[in-house]
Amino acid sequence: MPATDHQLTEPVTGPAEPVRGPAEPEMGPAEALAELFTPAGKHHPYPLYDALWGLGPVIPLGPAGTLVLGYDEICTALRDPRFLVTDAAVHRTTGMNDHSSWQCFTKIMMFSNSPDHERMRRFAGWAYAPRLVAERRRLAVGAAERWTAHLATLDGGGPDGGGPVDLVEAFATRVPITVTGDLLGIPEADRMELRGAVTATTTAFEPVFDRDELLPADAGMDVLVDYLADLVRDRRRRPADDLISVMVRDRDAAGALSEDELVASLVMFLIAGVQSPSDLIGNAVRLALHHPAEGRRMTTDEEHTAAFITETLRIDPPNHVLTRSAATDIDLHGHRVAAGSRALLVLAAANRDPRRFTDPAAFDTAREDNRPLSFGLGPHYCLGAAFARMQVEAAVPVLLRRFPRMTLAAPPTHRDQLVTRGFARMEVVLGS
Ligand code: HEM
Repeated sequence: MPATDHQLTEPVTGPAEPVRGPAEPEMGPAEALAELFTPAGKHHPYPLYDALWGLGPVIPLGPAGTLVLGYDEICTALRDPRFLVTDAAVHRTTGMNDHSSWQCFTKIMMFSNSPDHERMRRFAGWAYAPRLVAERRRLAVGAAERWTAHLATLDGGGPDGGGPVDLVEAFATRVPITVTGDLLGIPEADRMELRGAVTATTTAFEPVFDRDELLPADAGMDVLVDYLADLVRDRRRRPADDLISVMVRDRDAAGALSEDELVASLVMFLIAGVQSPSDLIGNAVRLALHHPAEGRRMTTDEEHTAAFITETLRIDPPNHVLTRSAATDIDLHGHRVAAGSRALLVLAAANRDPRRFTDPAAFDTAREDNRPLSFGLGPHYCLGAAFARMQVEAAVPVLLRRFPRMTLAAPPTHRDQLVTRGFARMEVVLGS
């Protein structure tokens, strides 16, 4: 029988403010939304999604826009090109274009609309081909073995396994930066500084109440852009056997991207390539420790591992919210979304839509037709989905095989982020 995932729906350590649950009948949409973006709400959003579900699958928020929770409703919005991603034109009135973080983000496909979006997706599409994903599995297994060996050196080695160690710092953040660093040809010595800058840039996706909140993201972006622009110049002079060299050669041959767009695409590959896969590794390990029998099966059964990771993506995805801007007045399943207003598409709530998933709060790896929306849908569907899954499906079993007695030493804590959500710390006793 699948167990309801209490530990994902009960407060663990974190910000001290009380979080209201679904039983609070007076909570209105604006109040629930405001609470969602408090530190406590970001740490512990699932009861708030439950509260919001009581208000329906599409919730008008007045001039603030529309909150969309329903699975079918989000599918419709993601497939409808009138729901624009927040590109430079959409940001013209928000002031975001003055910030280096958004100056770079709006040069990548994820934040570009037609026809730039298609042009960029065509240029980079080959880098995500299934054949290449299969070839990269070797890199992912190698990275996982390397960092499990590193974990063992941190372990005190006492009868109870010594420790505790922070699995986020010592494993989950390191495996994807190792794989992506190898692919891009980033020297080992530079990787961890870039890794810190990557996380900083993702804070730019959170709602901004004060523009100073973007300063850490801007600083992180400056580091990434300067670094990758240098690497592009270097590979143009001295091509190597890496993805940057191929992209530089393709760009220079066909001129399909400007130089800034080329650098931005590489920044994107680095950010997308490491942040969400790291967060997914953390979420999957956490669930494996909470469901030990299911976790153990991952050490021997690849098919089960794939189902486990799909269910992790459903019940605790790395990206909770996507934003769209209505190009015109749109009727979304009977609700009017006004031209120019924002729609917040809450993927993490849609993954628990009771009309689509039976007993949605239960962690159940045997679900049929389990298709969470965690990689998006439609024209912007995640290009790296297969690559990301491959890394996580390769890495987590290596870890669990090496440390079969691993346990949580303390409740893990999240970064203060909801749009790109993941653990800041996860202390474990390895038990090796
Ligand atoms: C668990 C890991 C990942 C998750 C949960 C994830 C999630 C997503 C989501 C939800 C979108 C859609 C954004 C939107 O519609 O606005 C997206 C787009 C994208 N992702 Fe991922 N992603 C992951 C890993 C990766 C990796 C490893 C890469 C590449 C190295 C990657 C590259 C991209 C790209 C290029 C797009 C933009 C596609 C487009 O705009 O056409 N992602 N991702």
